[in-house]
Amino acid sequence: MSDEPLIRLLDVWKIYRIGKLESPALRGVSLDIYKGEFLSIIGPSGSGKTTLLNLLGALDRPTKGEILFEKISLNKLSPDQLAEFRNKKIGFVFQSFNLLNHLTVVENVEIPMMVLGVPPKIRREKALKILGELLPEEVFYKRPIEISSGEQQRVAIARALANDPDVILADEPTGNLDSSNAHVVMRIFRKLRDEGKTIVMVTHNQELTSYADRVVRLRDGQIVEVIKR
Ligand SMILES: Nc1ncnc2c1ncn2[C@@H]1O[C@H](COP(=O)(O)OP(=O)(O)OP(=O)(O)O)[C@@H](O)[C@H]1O
Ligand SMILES: [Mg+2]
Repeated sequence: MSDEPLIRLLDVWKIYRIGKLESPALRGVSLDIYKGEFLSIIGPSGSGKTTLLNLLGALDRPTKGEILFEKISLNKLSPDQLAEFRNKKIGFVFQSFNLLNHLTVVENVEIPMMVLGVPPKIRREKALKILGELLPEEVFYKRPIEISSGEQQRVAIARALANDPDVILADEPTGNLDSSNAHVVMRIFRKLRDEGKTIVMVTHNQELTSYADRVVRLRDGQIVEVIKR
């Protein structure tokens, strides 16, 4: 872990507006996240966990406050620059895997590279290499519906790694997995963290927070506790 924060959240607010109704999802969140850190975010349903992750991944902008990534304010980036930032720096992992069933496993992993215009031969090689670290070869040319949910989540992790991102953002990545597959995913995250990736994971599973370096607890859109492991 380095001394300089990789990501800084400075008094971040997110207020959703539905007609005239204002619903504050985040209320003044300040947090430094370091390179090579495995951070876990916990808190009750509706406390703002997904909102926070979406802001970190530049899928949405704060209503107020600032997010700095390597000292650059995401507020200052244009929509095109934000898209490039997402593609190059961030890998997303979701509870429901979000794989495309009409493509093979290896093709799914190639998608983020396709978006960046990586030539077919190179992206195939790279996808196979990443998959080789996570899954047995016999699943590479199957379709996601033909493999187990534990395997599907590992494919999704491979896809998240395709463009060699600095940060992995995972929203309830084990929500659809049994306990043994959940631990497999945690061990993969630990390994990625040891290799220098920064992991931010939302979870409802208290037991899995033991894999994290730090646990941030949200309640009503505010950080109410930070636990260092
Ligand atoms: N697109 C939206 N429009 C309006 N309100 C929203 C929107 N997304 C979230 N909210 C509200 O913001 C608050 C925080 O939601 P968020 O999804 O971040 O919670 P969460 O902690 O991820 O919950 P869960 O554990 O159920 O996934 C909730 O009150 C929610 O209803
Ligand atoms: Mg959520």
